[in-house]
Amino acid sequence: MNNHEKKYKLVPYLSKQKIDALCKDLAEQINEDYKEYVVNGAEEYINPQIVAICVLKGGMFFLTDILRYIKIPMIVDFAKLASYGKDMKSSGTITILQDISTDIKGKHIIIFDEIIDSGRTLSFYVDRLRSSEPASIKLCTLIDKKLCRSPESKIEADYVGINADEEFLIGYGLDHAEQYRNLPEIYQLKEM
Ligand code: IMP
Ligand code: MG
Repeated sequence: MNNHEKKYKLVPYLSKQKIDALCKDLAEQINEDYKEYVVNGAEEYINPQIVAICVLKGGMFFLTDILRYIKIPMIVDFAKLASYGKDMKSSGTITILQDISTDIKGKHIIIFDEIIDSGRTLSFYVDRLRSSEPASIKLCTLIDKKLCRSPESKIEADYVGINADEEFLIGYGLDHAEQYRNLPEIYQLKEM
């Protein structure tokens, strides 16, 4: 049966308020860990040592929401990575559709992704970033499907909003075959 013939229902998973609270909490942890870089006035926003990398397309809402609470001067950049096909399982082949353009040598990187599943995508991308010799790389994810991590994935998230099981989630940047990304809340996609 292909995706068009299957019937799904959307079960509420994370409300807007809950997502906002998680973003705020994660941002506070980041502000604390990088507090030597926190500044108050706009005039101090010079020569940022931190680079925030948003993993597209899924991380688009998460990055813009969490950045509003982060007080560290940072360069913001985007990497468009693809690992999923039209299915609910990662294809295993990672493609960099668009890479960052920032020179990250000697800078502190924080990668923002909305969900980590098998971890293959970020494992691959973190290795790739390491070859550019950043000072450090940390990972921040709204949702961590820790139980789904593949054995060959070498990454762990440093900042986790919530842990999830194997459920397939959509909305707030998360898609199923490019559908549902623009929903402001997160739902579990269940086959009926
Ligand atoms: P991984 O390489 O298996 O960790 O998959 C990473 C990417 O797959 C995430 O950044 C998402 O874009 C996508 N993904 C993983 N789980 C889900 C899900 O439950 N719903 C929608 N997309 C997902
Ligand atoms: Mg993603």
